[in-house]
Amino acid sequence: MKNKALYTGSFDPLTCGHFDIITRAARLYDKLIIGIVVNPSKKPMFSLEEREEMIRRVTKDLPNVEVDHFSGLLANYVNSNNFDAVIRGLRATTDFEYEIQMAQMNARLYHEHVETVFLMTNPNYSFISSSMIKEVHSLGGSVEGLIPELILEYMDKKIKV
Ligand code: COA
Repeated sequence: MKNKALYTGSFDPLTCGHFDIITRAARLYDKLIIGIVVNPSKKPMFSLEEREEMIRRVTKDLPNVEVDHFSGLLANYVNSNNFDAVIRGLRATTDFEYEIQMAQMNARLYHEHVETVFLMTNPNYSFISSSMIKEVHSLGGSVEGLIPELILEYMDKKIKV
């Protein structure tokens, strides 16, 4: 199949900012894979299995979206799965410095036809990150409207355990 794109990240947890990028990217490509990066040096709030389950449930109405995971070099995963594009969301100019470095390094590593494609984050969500959501929520602040309701349920449960 042509036009297979990857949207990757830690998604610990997925926010409305991520979900906005996913819905828009799913309109642009025949197939969109959400690739959760497994980073052994990070201590995530949610296990890989939990993140896969949450993302599957949140994206269940998007028929061309699938969830997967990978570890190691992003470019190896991209090349071996024949992706045409890797989607990145840009929130603010501060993201740009990091993203251009990563895109240019990856351009050397990807197969020739692979493009990094940037989508501008919805301004309603341009200030959020997963870490900020976790911090505010753990200290009793409201994160309603910034993460999908289903994800909020998982977060509430986690805090009660
Ligand atoms: N809405 C809300 N938050 C967003 C967002 C959006 N649209 N876009 C990014 N973010 C946030 C994320 O929530 C995350 O927050 P956190 O740091 O608090 O968890 C932060 O921005 C960074 O997100 P992201 O860019 O997805 O980073 P990541 O660490 O989750 O994953 C990879 C980045 C997977 C692209 C990168 O780590 C990677 O390539 N890893 C594999 C190793 C490799 O190949 N390295 C060489 C790269 S050249």
